[in-house]
Amino acid sequence: MSKYIIRGGTPLRGQITISGAKNAAVAIIPAALLVDGVCRVENVPDISDVDMLFSILRQMGASITDCGSGAFEIDCRGVKTHAATGEAMQKIRASYYLIGALLARCGRADVAMPGGCNFGGPRPIDQHVKGFTAMGAEIDVKNGILTAVTDGGLRGASIFLDGIPSVGATINIMLAAAKADGTTIIENAAREPHIVDLANFLNYMGANIRGAGTNVIRIRGVKNLKGGSYSIISDQIEAGTYMAAAAGTGGRVEIINIIPKHLECISGKLREMGVEVYESGDSSIVVESTRRFRKIDVTAMPYPGFPTDMQPQIAALLCLADGTSTVTDNVFDTRFKYVDELAKMGASIRVTGRTAIIQGLDRLTGAPIRAHDLRAGAALVIAGLCANGTTEVEGVSYIERGYEDIVGKLRSLGADIISVDDGGELSESAAV
Ligand code: UD1
Repeated sequence: MSKYIIRGGTPLRGQITISGAKNAAVAIIPAALLVDGVCRVENVPDISDVDMLFSILRQMGASITDCGSGAFEIDCRGVKTHAATGEAMQKIRASYYLIGALLARCGRADVAMPGGCNFGGPRPIDQHVKGFTAMGAEIDVKNGILTAVTDGGLRGASIFLDGIPSVGATINIMLAAAKADGTTIIENAAREPHIVDLANFLNYMGANIRGAGTNVIRIRGVKNLKGGSYSIISDQIEAGTYMAAAAGTGGRVEIINIIPKHLECISGKLREMGVEVYESGDSSIVVESTRRFRKIDVTAMPYPGFPTDMQPQIAALLCLADGTSTVTDNVFDTRFKYVDELAKMGASIRVTGRTAIIQGLDRLTGAPIRAHDLRAGAALVIAGLCANGTTEVEGVSYIERGYEDIVGKLRSLGADIISVDDGGELSESAAV
């Protein structure tokens, strides 16, 4: 197991290129199961969640060729099974997309229940199940395996998602509906950029999906999808994470290969704190900071609101703001496991219900800390970069699930961060 050793205090400077979006990639890769031909997918991030999905598809009989520079050819014509029950399925959240994809492909799915980041509370999939059931699937869960059976395939249906619009349920129902008999309408659909990206991918391959990016999505089922080439959008959250790191260290970083519109809510909150954020081109922005932050209140909401996947990172910055800030998460109410770790660095944070109340301080101090999930891990790295002294972050496998070469990228901006294995040896990513 590796850990990161960070000596804080160096302002980040330079230019950073953002990779393909994790949450788009983990939907588009299973979507290749719907395609009768070769999908060439470009801008695939080099992260462990993607490796895991590739290994699941390979075990099922898919052929996946690495074409270099983040491009892969995925050919699922050799997949002869409707089951995905191996151990890898329980290691990632996105394995639940195999349910929608296999139902669309085979009219049946036997799939191990998903794992993924533990935010300290339940992560139900009842809205996914409700959608599949409305489309004619019978669902049963026994011994950790979800079985979905149809009588000759899925039928289009009208589905109203309850509560907070679920990203996972919206994507899963889109996958299932793309080849169903008839039209499916998803109301109260989630609107995140990666939902639009999946719809674009499927439409490129011949699907008929309208309204992605709004709260009503209409999917007219088609018989076949053919192969083609598609490039994944850039990662909104990776970009936001580097924006926060640049701001927290009092640096100046140009962030390229981004879609500025997807970052508006993050840019807006950083500006409110006193950070300069300006566009330097169609697909790049500059973040510049003096490290004097005003207190702010942040509420994580579904897109286009402030993303829950950025709330731990902004909370880390607010530990250094002038005054008392609040961070409320309206998507996952218990996503505050990182607070105890920041406290070890001297942060003053109290959690009440779904709100963290953060009393800003002059400084954080380095400490041994542990990442308990992906974005919390990113927040701890940011805190380490901002802190006085040395921080050791354990649990970095969570971070590497979603950030491509985070150590190499931060080092290229001047950060003093290395990755070492348990024996103290430099690990591969730190060596390059
Ligand atoms: C996805 C993302 C995750 C992100 C989250 C919110 C992937 C692999 N993961 O997670 O990075 O943090 O969206 O943007 O893309 N809910 C239910 N029943 C359901 C489904 C969800 O009650 O069937 C609730 C959840 O508990 C949560 C809210 O709905 O309170 C939103 O969850 P959802 O958008 O589904 O998150 P995930 O798909 O798990």
